[in-house]
Amino acid sequence: IDLGSGDGRIVIEAARKFGARGLGIELDRALVEKSRASARSAGVADRVSFVEGDVLVSDISRASVVTVYLLPALIRKLQPRFIEELEPGTRIVSHAFALTSWKPDRVETVRISRPHPGQGDESTLFLWLVPADVRGLWTGSAAGGEWRLRIHQNYQDIEIEGNAAGKPLAAAKASLSGREIAWEADGMRFRGRAEPGGRIAGELQTAKRAVPLVLIRAR
Ligand SMILES: C[S@@+](CC[C@H](N)C(=O)[O-])C[C@H]1O[C@@H](n2cnc3c(N)ncnc32)[C@H](O)[C@@H]1O
Repeated sequence: IDLGSGDGRIVIEAARKFGARGLGIELDRALVEKSRASARSAGVADRVSFVEGDVLVSDISRASVVTVYLLPALIRKLQPRFIEELEPGTRIVSHAFALTSWKPDRVETVRISRPHPGQGDESTLFLWLVPADVRGLWTGSAAGGEWRLRIHQNYQDIEIEGNAAGKPLAAAKASLSGREIAWEADGMRFRGRAEPGGRIAGELQTAKRAVPLVLIRAR
């Protein structure tokens, strides 16, 4: 979904080049009509659609990729909805303006071969992956004992501490990418997935063997 889709170029190009299905939401009716005409000319009208509407009140929950080239004031209003309404793992790509206090997963600056008057000759693109909500207390059992872990979370940045089979655990290299979660601690390595409904399931690699580890959100 392109939020504020202008003349439709992002959605049309994604369909033309990558076979994507797409939706553009745009306030300006003339631009919506122009986008529909361009989609027909590009031969992608069966894969894309454009609606006249306000992105602030539109349903964005079905997107797997959200693109924005909007002013910071509007992005600030959308940001809480990105976290609350988009599925973990959804990609958000912003042109020129970053989200607030949410570190991008990737930043790329590209040279513009034909800048518009008044525009610089570089363009910056930001990528974020919506992180699963893993904040809180998790319990489970593995490696011969009970586990009780607390996860601290700021978007995709996580810290993990707690108790694993009777020993204190302070995880290093903890990472969260969409639903994929991983950490290392005391010679063990965990790789798993934060599933809907408060369950983290994966594999714990110890010095000797790999065992399943399932953590359930403690209520
Ligand atoms: C800078 S253009 C980007 C166009 C397109 N996404 C692109 O990258 O080529 C921003 C567009 O957002 C539209 N827009 C601004 N506020 C909007 C809102 N609240 N809802 C829908 N569209 C909006 C504007 O009309 C304009 O066409």
